[in-house]
Amino acid sequence: MSVAGEWCFFKGQIMPFADAHVGLMTHALNYGTGCFEGIRAYWNDAHQELYVLKAEAHFERMHRSCRVLRIDLPYTPAELADITTELVRRNGYRQDVYIRPLAFKSQEVIGVRLHDLQDGFAIFTAPMGNYIPIDDGIKCGVSSWRRIDDNMIPPAAKVTGLYVNSALAKTEAIENGFDEAIMLTQAGNVSEGSAENIFLVQGDTLITPAKGENILVGITRNAVMQLAHDELGIRTVERNVARSELYTSDEVFLCGTGAQISPVTEIDRRKVGDGVVGPITRRLQDVYFGAVRGENAKYASWVRPVLGAGASH
Ligand SMILES: Cc1ncc(COP(=O)(O)O)c(C=O)c1O
Repeated sequence: MSVAGEWCFFKGQIMPFADAHVGLMTHALNYGTGCFEGIRAYWNDAHQELYVLKAEAHFERMHRSCRVLRIDLPYTPAELADITTELVRRNGYRQDVYIRPLAFKSQEVIGVRLHDLQDGFAIFTAPMGNYIPIDDGIKCGVSSWRRIDDNMIPPAAKVTGLYVNSALAKTEAIENGFDEAIMLTQAGNVSEGSAENIFLVQGDTLITPAKGENILVGITRNAVMQLAHDELGIRTVERNVARSELYTSDEVFLCGTGAQISPVTEIDRRKVGDGVVGPITRRLQDVYFGAVRGENAKYASWVRPVLGAGASH
């Protein structure tokens, strides 16, 4: 991610990013008491249009995260999607963009708690290409850091402080020569990547860790399951996944708003399948990118045109 767009949304209005500041004592900065989303907008050169992907689904999840943190988010998901569209338009992008909404305990006060605190909300944007490689397959390592449990910090809520768990795993993975970490639950089952859900291909079936496996229930995860079913005629089984299945599956891929669909060709120094990107992962990538760039009318409801010129596509 690079430089933020000129305009952001803060304190109830669109304002210059350069003027949006928080103080050092801000509760969320000190205690991790915020929650966030990551939304992508895809530029389609042929349409001369920028498409925001599944904004309302992200803001519905943000409302659920806010309930966990007892943050009052005074806009509906539809209103937040409208604000996002307007903000992205104001920033004048002609390229792929990442959108970061952040709801947080904004009060400047010392003391750990969730109650009796003021809440803040902001959205900023930045140009963004691939978060992790998507072309040739990445190398993953199973992390020595276990995925945090639901009764520690609920992982289904996208809580800022929770991402220390992901950051520990990601840095360990990179320093060990991998591209990405795969985290296990306390029970030793596969949970997810540091910022991605995981899918395994076994024969003609997709397998993904069940919702109870301390995952963030990804918007992309849902999209992948729908595309697999509707476009490839492949069903997905949500269940517990043993670590050894990482080594024995035909294909493995990570998915997420940032990660998109990222094929995994090596895990813990073992080849996944033949060690090359598998055919089901490739086909899913093809249909995914067609849908998110507004090229497939069947999935027109997934995307919202920002500029208007592409509204008819
Ligand atoms: C821990 C974690 N899991 C999964 C995902 C994928 O979620 P989504 O597809 O909604 O972006 C993310 C992405 O933000 C994440 O941070």
